Amino acid sequence: MLIKNDDASLTKEVTDPQVFKARRKIIQAAIALGATASVSAAANEKKAYQHVPIGPYSKKLQVTDYEDAINYTNFYEFSTNKKDSTVLAQALKISPWQVLIEGEVDKPGLYDFEDILKKVNLEERIYRFRCVEAWSMVVPWIGFPLHQLIKQVQPTSRAKFVEFTTVLQPDVMPGLRYSSLKWPYTEGLRMDEAMHPLTLMATGMYDEKLPKQNGAPLRLVVPWKYGFKSIKSIIKIRFLENMPSTAWNTSAPGEYGFYANVNPAVPHPRWSQARERVLGASIFTPKRKTEKFNGYGEQVAALYSGMNLKKYY
Ligand code: MTE
Repeated sequence: MLIKNDDASLTKEVTDPQVFKARRKIIQAAIALGATASVSAAANEKKAYQHVPIGPYSKKLQVTDYEDAINYTNFYEFSTNKKDSTVLAQALKISPWQVLIEGEVDKPGLYDFEDILKKVNLEERIYRFRCVEAWSMVVPWIGFPLHQLIKQVQPTSRAKFVEFTTVLQPDVMPGLRYSSLKWPYTEGLRMDEAMHPLTLMATGMYDEKLPKQNGAPLRLVVPWKYGFKSIKSIIKIRFLENMPSTAWNTSAPGEYGFYANVNPAVPHPRWSQARERVLGASIFTPKRKTEKFNGYGEQVAALYSGMNLKKYY
């Protein structure tokens, strides 16, 4: 599904990270030459972003600066510190990469990442992202809707859930020595959530390949759920009849549920979830009000009709 941009003015409201990066390069080059920066060159760069489909949900929100999005990461296999994980993750080995598909599926197997890419359509989508720790960003992801892969491997009628597993590379992942979470990191979705057109398997961001610290070469992005659902560096996808356990739910069941839908009305036991700190914003900028389903209610609320979302958090 391509997300249509019905509002031509949206592009003006978005801080284009490519422009930011290009301007910085131009300014650096200009300083080196003793000349002033060329504004028209930066304007040309902006065209590169005009094809990006921006959904109504990102209206009036600024795209997070690339530098902020890649330098403040959660990747506990490396470190629980958001800056250390960014540095340590550079040691992750991502080539060759294979994904094991197993469980309730007619076409199980070990698939080469490159072969998966040949059979899907990559798109660029700007999604809101909301971490359970109450910070948020707006990221232009590159990826393919997960349903494209699911349809190819043909789940059986017994498949009701999908489980994802992150790679284990103990030689380069110092965080695995600590029991901050149960390793390997796993996550799960109900089948209808996995098939939803907004659910993305990301392979890149900001017009570039996915940085290692952000989950290269393949990570999940579910824009209406808290960030911990966005499992990184996936090596296994398993189709199941029963709900799988997940890394955070296993470690702290009272704090992190299976569903993890963004919901300002359900506080985390140790803090409110009603407001969010926009990553990169100045300390004087007031926090934003968090929206139910992270602003994607129109698209996804029907998945949960009749469910008590305080109980199934
Ligand atoms: N995936 C793995 N394998 N390990 C992790 O520690 N952290 C999760 C999620 N995916 C995590 C993970 C959490 S808590 C968040 S908020 C997001 O990744 C952060 O994504 P980002 O670092 O790209 O912003």
